[in-house]
Amino acid sequence: MNIQTFAQRKQQQQKISMVTCYDHWSAQILNKTDIDCVLVGDSLAVVMYGYESTVHATLDMMVLHVGAVARGAPDKFIIADMPFLTCSKGLLPAMEAVERLMQAGAHAVKIEGDSHQVDIIRHIVDAGVPVMGHLGLTPQSIHNLGGHRVQGKAEADAEKIVDGARRLEQAGCFSLVLECVPTRLGGCVSQAVQIPTIGIGAGPHTDGQVLVLHDLLGVNSDFKPKFLRQYASGHSLVNDAVNHFHGDVVTGDFPTAAESYR
Ligand code: KIV
Repeated sequence: MNIQTFAQRKQQQQKISMVTCYDHWSAQILNKTDIDCVLVGDSLAVVMYGYESTVHATLDMMVLHVGAVARGAPDKFIIADMPFLTCSKGLLPAMEAVERLMQAGAHAVKIEGDSHQVDIIRHIVDAGVPVMGHLGLTPQSIHNLGGHRVQGKAEADAEKIVDGARRLEQAGCFSLVLECVPTRLGGCVSQAVQIPTIGIGAGPHTDGQVLVLHDLLGVNSDFKPKFLRQYASGHSLVNDAVNHFHGDVVTGDFPTAAESYR
């Protein structure tokens, strides 16, 4: 996968699959799967560190995780989230962040929003770094949006999102994530731009889909938003395996002679 194949996929109406990945061991597993690309999302602040929002993902955190993923998934196209406020701090801090994320092993960066970010996105693209946009529910602005809620329900808001997508395309984004918007808007945005849209909670008409790996694995069995399909019972899988190990230790069934050195 590269930015040319992203474009070809849309032209050939072939969907693109993406999952988040934050660490080395899951990167090694994903490297052997059919998944098209992996996102080192700033959602790691929530999933890996237990913070309440992505606002807490720092550049140092992102760089460490991008490196771990890049070493584990050398065959995958890796996109790294630009952390909270990196673009708002101005061109130099933004470019320094891009430099660190790319040197850690990312192949592209993802940037939330479409307002003051557009000029910076153009500069990053001109510098030779592919940029993925992110519209709809942009979790770094969660406090401004008033929580995790579907965006673009009102006609005027929907138009703003379509316009934003066009602006991101003009700025040079090779693709964009569309998060938590009504199905109809997911389709409208995907038709309005030539670049592929990757949806999460944006219905079936986007050019691809992304899920947080831990969510699709069912690691948190209580987290079941409408858009999520759980493909495994990760919580009970881990719980059962650890309890099995505990039981074997307590009963003395582990280790056996075959599991011990002579
Ligand atoms: O950080 C993240 O995981 C994301 C996805 C939800 C698209 O941005």
